[in-house]
Amino acid sequence: MAVTYIRRFRMEFDLANVRVVVPEVPDGFRWIPWHPSTLTRHARVKYLSFRNEPDARLFPCLSEFAGCYRLMSDITAQSNFIRQATWLIVRDADDFQSGEDVGTIQGMSHSDLLGAVQNVAIHPDFRGMGLGRALVLKALDGFRRARMRRVVLEVTAANQPAVDLYRSVGFRLVRTMFKELPDEAVAV
Ligand SMILES: CC(C)(COP(=O)(O)OP(=O)(O)OC[C@H]1O[C@@H](n2cnc3c(N)ncnc32)[C@H](O)[C@@H]1OP(=O)(O)O)[C@@H](O)C(=O)NCCC(=O)NCCS
Repeated sequence: MAVTYIRRFRMEFDLANVRVVVPEVPDGFRWIPWHPSTLTRHARVKYLSFRNEPDARLFPCLSEFAGCYRLMSDITAQSNFIRQATWLIVRDADDFQSGEDVGTIQGMSHSDLLGAVQNVAIHPDFRGMGLGRALVLKALDGFRRARMRRVVLEVTAANQPAVDLYRSVGFRLVRTMFKELPDEAVAV
């Protein structure tokens, strides 16, 4: 059977030498720090943001709420989970209780000094407003507070919005990798 490979970039941010300035989120939006009670909310906005994206074929768990929930549970249960780099963005509604989650990001560490960004996602209805950039910078600030010196991430090379976003905040390409696409994804 033919094997399909997807090109992926590893990108790195030099936290020790590049200043991070977290922008204000637009009026009507606010930050929610990590707390275990927000796990389902992270999973839900992750699912709504990724379900129709090419990455959901590469990582099938992203195409289902249950998969996103498992992924969030796994990430946040690890001893190298970094809560300071894990954030939700919520849009306030007139009725405060029914505010809508619009973005999520999580942080982990690969070593004492090396952080790793996981799963940046903005709900499709709220893209192009600067929220993705704000999330990445908020997480970078959290990694800095957690005393990381560098931060890495992996991104599908064809995911132009994400690659451009990471470049625009100061991530540099350090390696190109090839990931085998799962059989079920090739069949789609
Ligand atoms: C990638 C993603 C998080 C960007 O979120 P966003 O809120 O729309 O991004 P922002 O509005 O903050 O844009 C910041 C920068 O990203 C880049 N960007 C965003 N959308 C873009 C697009 N459609 N095409 C090219 N570049 C784009 C630009 O450099 C932009 O800067 P500019 O506005 O000064 O030109 C969003 O598209 C998303 O959730 N995608 C699906 C999930 C995903 O693929 N996540 C990445 C996994 S590695």
